[in-house]
Amino acid sequence: MSRIFSGIQPTGNLHLGNYLGAVRNWVKLQDDFECIFCVVDMHAITQWQDPAALTASTREVAAAMIASGVDAKKHIIFNQSQVAAHAELAWIFNCVARLGWLNRMTQFKDKAGKNRENASVGLYAYPNLMAADILLYRATHVPVGEDQKQHLELARDIAAKFNHDFGVEDFFPQPEPLILGTATRVMSLKDGTKKMSKSDPSALSRINMTDDADAIAKKIREAKTDPEALPEDAKAMEGRPEVANLLGIYAALSDTSLDDVIAQFAGQGFGAFKKDLADLAVAKLGPIQDEMRRLMDDTAHIDAVLKDGAQRARSIAAPIMTEIKQTVGFLNV
Ligand code: TYM
Repeated sequence: MSRIFSGIQPTGNLHLGNYLGAVRNWVKLQDDFECIFCVVDMHAITQWQDPAALTASTREVAAAMIASGVDAKKHIIFNQSQVAAHAELAWIFNCVARLGWLNRMTQFKDKAGKNRENASVGLYAYPNLMAADILLYRATHVPVGEDQKQHLELARDIAAKFNHDFGVEDFFPQPEPLILGTATRVMSLKDGTKKMSKSDPSALSRINMTDDADAIAKKIREAKTDPEALPEDAKAMEGRPEVANLLGIYAALSDTSLDDVIAQFAGQGFGAFKKDLADLAVAKLGPIQDEMRRLMDDTAHIDAVLKDGAQRARSIAAPIMTEIKQTVGFLNV
């Protein structure tokens, strides 16, 4: 059986990268898979979060999933901390994963920065919790942006080592990353070599899902480009990361191929292109934002969706967790 698991951290505003790299693809996949989508609040606290802001952001991410078209009745949306088995399995995986594996994780190095000694232990062990998220449900497919690829490889290594160490061949599947579409790595609007990120200090670097039409237009107008005209073909885009990023965003939002978008704007100046891109972004994001606002006015409804989702998640996880504990040799489980 095929089952999808994926997650988003409730750390500040959701941005266009989260939408194009993840949520939009989830909506497309939900007809073909059984899906579990998680607001990973336990991952969020690996770096300090103001408690009230964490609560608000958890609701906002859930609202964004629903507003984007995830069907919370047919599938599952919940926040991670409601299902205790994520933490239980993460501990077991802390004892399966090797220090050397975690030492290679580039995201830890990026997030910890120069002050590694002061990073939380949770931030370091974060990929083990992520592996637990996925394998707790024996999920087979994980739709993510490109930046999560290395974490997925680690989850596969953990699954294989657990199966091997406990002699339970095929107990955990090898989860497959699904990195789909033309915007698998949306870059900063201010620096085409850096990914669009919630933690970038420059607000102009990202389009937030909560930005209004004026803010979206301003950010796109002020996006970094270069003095040349738009490229005539894909080859002419090489070495122009900001231009490639804007064209990629256009292709993703308009559901066309990059080549078609390049052909459409070949040789033109950036003024008209940026205006078209802003109009397109507002047209595509506007209805989602309206629905998000409507949902955020009814927090009781969001909370109920997350509660119901957690209950269904628990009932899938419970028998798997029991089997894991028996496999490990825990008594009276
Ligand atoms: P997070 O919260 O950083 O991002 C959520 C999703 O958005 C994608 N994404 C991007 N895609 C394209 N361009 C970008 N600039 C961009 N920025 C973010 C991410 O790839 C991700 O798909 N560790 C995960 C959360 C997680 C998870 C999981 C994911 C926890 N457990 C289990 C899958 C399965 C994270 O920090 O994503």
